[in-house]
Amino acid sequence: KYKGIIFDLDGVITDTAEYHYLAWKKLADELNIYFDRKINENLKGVSRLESLEIILKNSDKVFSDEEKHYLADKKNDYYKEMIKKITPQDILPGVCDLINNLKEREIKIAVASVSKNAKTVLDNLGLLDSFDYIVDAEKIKNGKPDPEIFLNAADGIKVEPCCCIGIEDSKAGIEAINRAGMLSVGVGNPETVEEADIILKDLSNPSDLLNLI
Ligand code: BG6
Ligand code: MG
Repeated sequence: KYKGIIFDLDGVITDTAEYHYLAWKKLADELNIYFDRKINENLKGVSRLESLEIILKNSDKVFSDEEKHYLADKKNDYYKEMIKKITPQDILPGVCDLINNLKEREIKIAVASVSKNAKTVLDNLGLLDSFDYIVDAEKIKNGKPDPEIFLNAADGIKVEPCCCIGIEDSKAGIEAINRAGMLSVGVGNPETVEEADIILKDLSNPSDLLNLI
C-alpha cells in the first residue's frame, strides 16, 4: 500500500535535535532567560525565528525585530559550529539499514526538514545522494504543523499523500503528517509524538517500519 516514506531529519535520521537544544540553551543562558528540555520539546520541528519567540516568552524584555534576527543568527552560528563535527557515524541506529531495504523494495524516500542547515547535515552524514527528493526549506511558505512541507515531499517523489508514511520526532511534525493525510510514525519522546498513528522508540529495528508496507 505504501509507496513513499518521508523522513524528518533532526531527531529522526541523526541526533541534531540535541545540538539545536544545546545551541538555544547557550543563547538563553547568555540572555539570562530560563530554558529547559521541557520547553525545548515545543521547539522541535519549529522554525528558527518561531523557536526564538517561544524562548523569549520567558523574558520580560521587549526585543526589536533587528535584535531578534541578531539572536537567531547567533544561535545559528553556535549550531553551525556543532554540526561541523558530524560524520556518517552520527546516523542513528537502523537508519542506513532501513534506507537500503526501502531502496530494494523500490519505495521512494524523501527528507522533509524545515532546517536551512539540512543539506549541510545530510552532506556531513554522507546521505546527500541517498534520497529521491529533499525538500528545499527556502521554498516552503508555511512551517510545520502546516502540512505543506510533507505535501511538497510527496509531490517530489510523485506518490499520493495517502500512500506515504511520514516519520517525525516533533509534535508539530506529527500534526503536519496527519493533516497531509499520511500515516504518521512518531519516534523519540512518546508524549511529544502522542498524536502519531504509530509510536516507536527509534528506528533501530527497521522491520518495525518494513512490516507496515
Ligand atoms: C527543525 C528542528 O528541523 O529545524 C528545529 O527540529 C529547528 O529545532 C528548525 O529550529 C530550523 O532549523 P534551522 O537549522 O534552519 O535553524
Ligand atoms: Mg525533528
